[in-house]
Amino acid sequence: MKTHFPLIVGNWKMHKTVFETRQFLRSFKHLIAEKKVGVWLAVPFTDIAAAAHAAHGSAIELGAQNVSDLMAGALTGEVSAPMIVEAGAGFVILGHSERRRIFHEDDGMIHRKVKLALRSGLKVIFCIGETEEQREKGQTEAVLTKQIELGLKGVSADMLKRVIFAYEPVWAIGSGKPATVEIVEEIHSLCKNYVAKYLGAHCHILYGGSVNAGNASHFLKAAGVDGLLVGAASLDVQSFIEIIHQAEEIR
Ligand code: PGA
Repeated sequence: MKTHFPLIVGNWKMHKTVFETRQFLRSFKHLIAEKKVGVWLAVPFTDIAAAAHAAHGSAIELGAQNVSDLMAGALTGEVSAPMIVEAGAGFVILGHSERRRIFHEDDGMIHRKVKLALRSGLKVIFCIGETEEQREKGQTEAVLTKQIELGLKGVSADMLKRVIFAYEPVWAIGSGKPATVEIVEEIHSLCKNYVAKYLGAHCHILYGGSVNAGNASHFLKAAGVDGLLVGAASLDVQSFIEIIHQAEEIR
C-alpha cells in the first residue's frame, strides 16, 4: 500500500480489548471519508486481527507496536513478524523509548528487529529520541545520530523506503510537555541531513510526544514534519479525528 503524507499514526500502547477496538473502529472508520492523509493505528497484538477486520474497506492501515527479533523458536511469550503480518499488520513501531527504557532493548536488538521486519515485508516506524538529561548535557545530536546509525546500518536504500522515522523526545512522551516547534524543526532538519549523508536516502519524519488536538496543527505546519505519532490522544475517537482533520486541512 502506498504511504500518504502527512501520516497520522495512533499508538495505543497497552490499551483496548478486542471489544473496545471494534467499538472504536465502528465509529472511527466512517469518519475517515477518503484517503487524503495517511491514517495508521498501532494496536496491541491481540487486537490486530479484529482491528484489520473492522477496518476492512477503509483507508486505515493496522500495525503492531513490537515484534520479535527472531523468526521462530522456543521463545516463550514472543510474537514473530510472520504472525503479525498474517494477522493483518502492515507496519510495526520499533525503537520506541518505552521499549528501549522499560524492556531494555538496545540498539543491537532494535537493529535485528528492523532488518527482520523489513525482510518480512513490513513497514517500520523507527523511533529516536533523547532524554531530558542528554538534552541538558548537549548530547542530543550525538544520541540521535547514534540511534540512527546503529539501528539502520546495512539497511539497503531500497529497504529504507519502507522506514519512516519518528522523533520522540523522551521528556515529551506522555508528559503533557511537547517539544517546541523550534526544537522539532531543528531536529528534523538535522536528522534528514544525517540520513541523506550517512544512508544516502531521503526520509520522512513524524513528530511524537504529547501531541493532541490543541497543538497538532502547529507541528503539522512546521518545516520538515511529515506527520505525527500520537499516543494518548489516539485513544479517543473525537480527539484522534480532530487531529486527522487538521492534517487534511494543512495538506
Ligand atoms: P503521547 O505518546 O502522545 O501519549 O505522549 C506518544 C508516543 O509514545 O508515541
